[in-house]
Amino acid sequence: MLPGRRRGEILVFDEVDSTNNVLKHLAIEGAAPGTAVIALKQTAGKGRLGRSFISPEDEGIYLSYLLRPLCSPEKAAELTSWVSVAVCSALKSACGISPEIKWVNDILLNRMKLGGILCEMSVGGSPDKPEYVVAGIGINVLQKSFSPELEKKATSLLIETRKRFSFDAIIAGLIAELDRLSDDFPDNKEQYLEEYRRLCSTVGSTVAFENRQSGENGLGGDDGYRTAFAEGIADDFSLAVRDENGNQSFIRTGEVSVRGLYGYV
Ligand code: BTN
Repeated sequence: MLPGRRRGEILVFDEVDSTNNVLKHLAIEGAAPGTAVIALKQTAGKGRLGRSFISPEDEGIYLSYLLRPLCSPEKAAELTSWVSVAVCSALKSACGISPEIKWVNDILLNRMKLGGILCEMSVGGSPDKPEYVVAGIGINVLQKSFSPELEKKATSLLIETRKRFSFDAIIAGLIAELDRLSDDFPDNKEQYLEEYRRLCSTVGSTVAFENRQSGENGLGGDDGYRTAFAEGIADDFSLAVRDENGNQSFIRTGEVSVRGLYGYV
């Protein structure tokens, strides 16, 4: 249940291109932190790395939440991981399930993708703190099936549990957790880091990742894919990996494929 008094309005739309886009416009116009935008359908839902997030009407939760963190943009980049923890907590309370996290932003249930998080930051003119961060959350709730491209990877609460959960209860849980996160960020990091480490099932697996820029991951400057063993989550939520030569490095950006997940063998 949400407290009677909270900062920020909760706006619900029948259809938008992307709740993140709508909230970015509101943020530029001065919307208060805690403002949330929810849509029943998105026509151009966005995922990380330029992907789309398929958002059919009344089948998923599409929610964006505004943060105005008082910290450096580098620190604010950790918000994707904090929000992943908040989403898992909300789903546990509202649905009694125990989701896991695929580094960095996929929410998994039974090793399939139940949802994802896309945080978009505007640094504005100031190097000291971001102008705003829009945290976008998509959860598959009532889908009965997915397109051939997604069926090896995506799932819904209905498919995994055979239950039709209340959208309202999940949304109330998400907003309550995001309000708490807004108060906690960035000072109360320890509990989010501990929880992220507990929930991130990527650790302990072999991962493949793209060496997108020369030496970015500290594993040499070759372009192309590299594989390494994911051995932990560092204090900045980056993924600590060790390659076959015993060299440790930290993945901070981009995507990892996890052996044994989403059809990667
Ligand atoms: C991902 O899986 O890469 C992230 C998916 C994020 C989807 C949500 S749905 C609400 C918000 N609006 C968007 O356009 N994207 C996010």
